Amino acid sequence: MSEAHTSPYATLAAELEQLWAGERDFFSCAANMAALLFWRLPEINWVGFYLRDGDELLLGPFQGQPACQRIRLGQGVCGRAAQEQRTIVVPDVRNFPGYIACTPETLSELVVPLSWDGCLYGVLDLDSPRLGRFTSEDASGLEDLALRLLSATDRERLHRYYRL
Ligand code: SME
Repeated sequence: MSEAHTSPYATLAAELEQLWAGERDFFSCAANMAALLFWRLPEINWVGFYLRDGDELLLGPFQGQPACQRIRLGQGVCGRAAQEQRTIVVPDVRNFPGYIACTPETLSELVVPLSWDGCLYGVLDLDSPRLGRFTSEDASGLEDLALRLLSATDRERLHRYYRL
């Protein structure tokens, strides 16, 4: 019998709760989450958040190379995941129509919508320089972490910042 597989996301979830330590500010918690994912997950060249501002997504806390600041809902992988409120895994970005290239070394991408009670707050975006980097385990693990972030933070405060 092999040892039971422990998801790295269970460990990351515990570390995040410890880092957040009851803090309720979205930007502070999201900044630490982007850093933890960027430095802990292998083969990742960009991790960050885009926050919904009306019918656009606006760049939020991230780690990696500078990126485009505004993306219209429906555009690129981020805009599509936001508009359809579903996780999108792109094994090869060259095959995704309308893909927005921020960093030339990115070859695969995963975008998880941040939504709560039907309200879309934005997306969590991860890029990798390896083709097919993201699995269904990554998708479900990151969906869980995204929900934890929204659950931990003061969502009313976000409503006051943005046109949600
Ligand atoms: N590639 C994304 C744009 C954001 S960057 O990857 C940081 C997209 O197509 O939406």
